[in-house]
Amino acid sequence: DKQYLIAPSILSADFARLGEEVDKVLKAGADVVHFDVMDNHYVPNLTFGSMICKALRDYGIDAPIDVHLMVSPVDGMIEQFLEAGASIITFHPEASAHVDRSLQLIKDGGAKCGLVLNPATPLHHLDYVMDKVDQILLMSVNPGFGGQSFIDSTLNKVRDVRKLIDASGRDIRLEVDGGIKASNIRAIAEAGADMFVAGSAIFNQPDYRAAIDAMRAELAL
Ligand code: DX5
Ligand code: ZN
Repeated sequence: DKQYLIAPSILSADFARLGEEVDKVLKAGADVVHFDVMDNHYVPNLTFGSMICKALRDYGIDAPIDVHLMVSPVDGMIEQFLEAGASIITFHPEASAHVDRSLQLIKDGGAKCGLVLNPATPLHHLDYVMDKVDQILLMSVNPGFGGQSFIDSTLNKVRDVRKLIDASGRDIRLEVDGGIKASNIRAIAEAGADMFVAGSAIFNQPDYRAAIDAMRAELAL
């Protein structure tokens, strides 16, 4: 596995040309497609569902698709996204009535599973599931919108979760989402993250490769 993964969030892509956009960002060097699912209930915004994920697979996208569920309830959506070709599915623990069951549902469907913690969500949600999760996603903005500013207190949380992961002895990805750009990605990596979501910092640039290369250059320092 690669040490660091860059996961562009298609929330900031041109939805009218989504297949081409995803193709283009992968050819520009992205590792993973970050797929933000919002339901106008758990978060105050509405994006896309499993049909769009399936459409990307049918279009020929074969890169890992990292589905970030900002929906409540979660289990029905998990089943749909397993069917639609998701590679990784993460959800917010407070949005699931039975967190262990939802994680197990993802694993049984053959995808990687993980939990997402909002900026103010405590780490105790990770207790008793560290043996199950493949990935932990820390939100560095409040979920719902692209283009927000990185919340700096997330860095301490990244350090704390890195310690938990190392103590678990398991191979768990530590992903951070929200407000990431070339100017702060290095500090986030130094705190212990190894997977970086970036929406506006990639899709709002004219040259996706230049935007991704600038991030990788910071990670290589
Ligand atoms: C926010 C989403 C993020 C968002 C990131 O709810 O989960 O993935 O698209 O966008 P930027 O990188 O613009 O903060
Ligand atoms: Zn996201």
